[in-house]
Amino acid sequence: MSSTSLAAVVLAAGKGTRMMSPLAKVLHSACGRPLATYPVRAALLAAASPVAVVVGHQADAVEKALRAELPGQPLQFALQAEQLGTAHAVLSAKSVLAAAGFASSGRVLILYGDVPLVRVETLRRLADAQAAAGTPLAFLTMRPPAPRGYGRILRDAAGNPIRIVEEKDASEAERAVGECNAGIYVCDAAFLWEALAATRPQNAQREFYLTDLVAVAAALAKGLAASPPVALEAPFDEVAGVNDRAELAACAAELRRRKLLALMRAGVTVLDPERTWIDDSVAVEPEAVLYPGCALHGKTRIGAGAEVGHGAVLIDSTIDAGARILAYSHLDQAEVGPRCQVGPFARFRPGAVLREEARVGNFVELKKTVLGKGSKANHLSYLGDSTIGAGVNVGAGTITCNYDGEKKYPTIIEDGAFIGSDTQLVAPVTVGKGAYVGTGTTVREDVPGGALAVSAGKQRNILGWVDKRKKRNG
Ligand code: UD1
Ligand code: CA
Repeated sequence: MSSTSLAAVVLAAGKGTRMMSPLAKVLHSACGRPLATYPVRAALLAAASPVAVVVGHQADAVEKALRAELPGQPLQFALQAEQLGTAHAVLSAKSVLAAAGFASSGRVLILYGDVPLVRVETLRRLADAQAAAGTPLAFLTMRPPAPRGYGRILRDAAGNPIRIVEEKDASEAERAVGECNAGIYVCDAAFLWEALAATRPQNAQREFYLTDLVAVAAALAKGLAASPPVALEAPFDEVAGVNDRAELAACAAELRRRKLLALMRAGVTVLDPERTWIDDSVAVEPEAVLYPGCALHGKTRIGAGAEVGHGAVLIDSTIDAGARILAYSHLDQAEVGPRCQVGPFARFRPGAVLREEARVGNFVELKKTVLGKGSKANHLSYLGDSTIGAGVNVGAGTITCNYDGEKKYPTIIEDGAFIGSDTQLVAPVTVGKGAYVGTGTTVREDVPGGALAVSAGKQRNILGWVDKRKKRNG
């Protein structure tokens, strides 16, 4: 193994007390993905392999979530049953990294699972600086507007870092230092394991501090056994961790901003980026148009030239090329074919499928229903458990009565059928090819192809009835 090969350790064992949550901090969602996904992905993009995630609180759930988010990636998981400090956390990953060839050669990138905004470019810059300086250790620093709580960087007269002192262990003069530890390191594996083995919990928090690495590296340099450690400054906004829900929301907003920026640069029109909600996992093709206030979640896919209207909500749905989702429609696990039109105010529940050029209008609800090519259901309908062919017209107020209080039953409407307004289709029932159902019909029996079905009785007109009633009531 060459000395430049890189592995990573992501610390994600902590509970995240300030989240005030039973859910482990790294599992909280940011821009549609568990928080820890982002730093793990950044490490993978920086070519770290394997990436060992140190888990503790809700270890199984964290492992499961990350494996689902990053399938097929070289992930390893190491359990830190008790959180005894950041050095102890990294040591917990030693055996998996040693097994991967990082016992005494190669390099290790260390970062936290709650730092979602760190850019892969910054990680590469750090790894390059470590290699270029020939130092056993390089790490990132930052200048937070309020440094309270962070480790402070102490440098010697030549400007080389000599030590990191934690807030709780710092003197007043040390606390006045504005440069803080970001908690992101690249080091030689051989140096790392040796230095970690020497850490002792002799500090205000009685923890094993990872920050002790800096003093060890500085001592090696002083004895001329190595080049001095390198401290590189990074923008605070990028390396700041998430500690509470307010910081989570701020980081999520930045992730969303980056996502929309990437989409716009790739040819997607986003009319109002500040009012467009999108998960990191959503895919949008060029020439699509996103209107203000729309929300795209989960595995949603938007095809080329499709439109998503004001206030439309799409969850795990596929919108094919050229389709239009008009304002305030709500789609969950739906598929909308090419050039279809949906809404305004349409509701698609799981299993709603529109074939090409179908149209669904306002106040129409679909569930487990396929609407065939060019078919229309333009007003006020409920279509559930239905298979509707091509070229069908479903009139206003049509209801599939698919539920008898115990079971659900299917409705089939074949190609070219015409369903008059205010029809109830009592399932299970089939309307044959090209059949007509008269307005106001309750269809309880199958309608053969080409037939007309009517169920309403003959209309009676009682002449003069209104006047007679007036006289009667005085
Ligand atoms: C740590 C640094 C501090 C730095 C700050 C930046 C140390 C001793 N201090 O402080 O210099 O300015 O980060 O945010 O390293 N974790 C584990 N297992 C543990 C302990 C921590 O997995 O036993 C994880 C936590 O879940 C968290 C991260 O490591 O994601 C940092 O731990 P935390 O306790 O927040 O460190 P700080 O005290 O903030
Ligand atoms: Ca912290």
